[in-house]
Amino acid sequence: MKVEALPAIKGNHNLANYEEAYASFDWKEVEENFSWSKTGKINAAYEAIDRHADGAKKNKVALYYRDANRDEKYTFEEMKELSNKAANVLKQHTDLQKGDRVFVFMPRSPELYFVILGAIKLGAIVGPLFEAFMESAVKDRLEDSEAKVIVTTKELLPRVPIDELPALKHVVVVGEDVKEEGKIIDFFAHFENASKDLEIEWVDRRDGLLLHYTSGSTGKPKGVLHVHNAMIQHYQTAKWVLDLKEEDIYWCTADPGWVTGTVYGIFGPWLLGVTNVIVGGRFSPDYWYETIEKYGVTVWYSAPTAFRMLMSAGDELVKKYNLSSLRHILSVGEPLNPEVIRWGMKVFNKRIHDTWWMTETGGHLICNYPCMDIRPGSMGKPIPGVKAAIIDDHGNELPPNRMGNLAIKKGWPSMMQAIWNNPEKYESYFIGDWYVSGDSAYMDEDGYFWFQGRVDDVIMTSGERVGPFEVESKLVEHPAVAEAGVIGKPDPVRGEIIKAFVALRSGYEASEDLKEDIRQFVKKGLAAHAAPREIEFCEKLPKTRSGKIMRRVLKAWELNLPTGDLSTLED
Ligand code: WTA
Repeated sequence: MKVEALPAIKGNHNLANYEEAYASFDWKEVEENFSWSKTGKINAAYEAIDRHADGAKKNKVALYYRDANRDEKYTFEEMKELSNKAANVLKQHTDLQKGDRVFVFMPRSPELYFVILGAIKLGAIVGPLFEAFMESAVKDRLEDSEAKVIVTTKELLPRVPIDELPALKHVVVVGEDVKEEGKIIDFFAHFENASKDLEIEWVDRRDGLLLHYTSGSTGKPKGVLHVHNAMIQHYQTAKWVLDLKEEDIYWCTADPGWVTGTVYGIFGPWLLGVTNVIVGGRFSPDYWYETIEKYGVTVWYSAPTAFRMLMSAGDELVKKYNLSSLRHILSVGEPLNPEVIRWGMKVFNKRIHDTWWMTETGGHLICNYPCMDIRPGSMGKPIPGVKAAIIDDHGNELPPNRMGNLAIKKGWPSMMQAIWNNPEKYESYFIGDWYVSGDSAYMDEDGYFWFQGRVDDVIMTSGERVGPFEVESKLVEHPAVAEAGVIGKPDPVRGEIIKAFVALRSGYEASEDLKEDIRQFVKKGLAAHAAPREIEFCEKLPKTRSGKIMRRVLKAWELNLPTGDLSTLED
């Protein structure tokens, strides 16, 4: 495949020569930056915040926060004190122990970050939940993880089914006039006077840090466990890939409900002591450009869907803002279209760097670096210290230009350490020494990787990973729905949209009103981003003889493609 490459950017980068680093790098070099090399113990929140607060960066701005109502900034020293206070609220008003799961279920705000860091300082495992989740999505995750504490807001509290969760002992509510009763604790009532001092819980590098629930093609969402050791990779990739330096002003647009919002919205920048911008509220092109101008953002990490939405907001809008501070732009979550890269060159005069990784991988794996030519449409090359390959279904490496399973040699520092409560599922990711991603791809003769699609039925809509099974399960709870099959349908802006094929129960008439009612049902029951944008009624769904819905047949119908092998089809 021949594409016009965008030449490497000359200059002084943290990864100045990719080939050289790839040939010689050893993760041991990075470990020495952290306290376990001296004390044998560690805490990621200490390394991200306190280490800087106790040193020369004490008065450096760690966090700029803005949303429609707030505009604030906090130094590393203030972040240390405020996360200590949050930790003390949890310590004094709950019986949180090391290793307990604390879930955070709230929109972005400075308090969200104080609580995440504070809980980690106590040795708890933090499970972030996206604010759009509705009751059953919240329940599934808290139930599976047996969370002891949830921190939420007054607005979201009604979606926490407290009485149905026996393991849940404390519900900390962030908001005004919270009434303390039963398990409910008023965060602000205790935060104000909480002590700024805290004895950090030092943990082992193999102890749990984050529990991110993510979707697969079957079953309920699964809890991907990351441990403190992952910070080695967070730190190093923030250098190599985000190319962060001392003076940078960095903005990652992802919510901590997704892995990008924790790994590169918290740890990446703060482990390096870099100023981090966090923006709350909804996507809005004006507000986003204004944010870059206001803070003089230099490194900007976002997603293809966001770039495509900015693109459709028009080039004139870009010209209204001074975006000249931007030095480095990155993207993650879905294939980055060459068209978007060309648009980035036109309006920002900057290359957009694609990065590939997954919730399970805990950090960047295949990326484009400033020092390297970009081939638009390619995810780039593996980071130093990581071996990537295309393998067949038996674990044999395939030669260049052959499509197959994108796989990574086991053992990189941020690799997930467990699927919560589900060792079989964890094992199912591996063939021998290979972690098999579930993505199909090929590698060209120069070692660039090219994404081709998901091997399974997982849907990527607006960069968010949605499991069709979860949506189908919710759909069949609707009284009119007998059966449902859900697929991702290609969409020019969102990557994919969710489309549901629905067979109605007898006695129900197909109508536009019913479609809307079903859509709202999923929106209210699960999450807005999981509600099907399109619904098509059909008599019957294609199923295997064992009764499994054949989503690939639905997809073929939708796209007018050949349906392939139908030997297992019911009739
Ligand atoms: C997809 C997000 C193409 C892929 C950090 C992967 C991508 C899934 C890219 C993981 C990319 C992520 N190009 N596809 N650069 N990055 N994906 O767990 O299918 O939410 O398996 O992690 O997103 O999604 P997740």
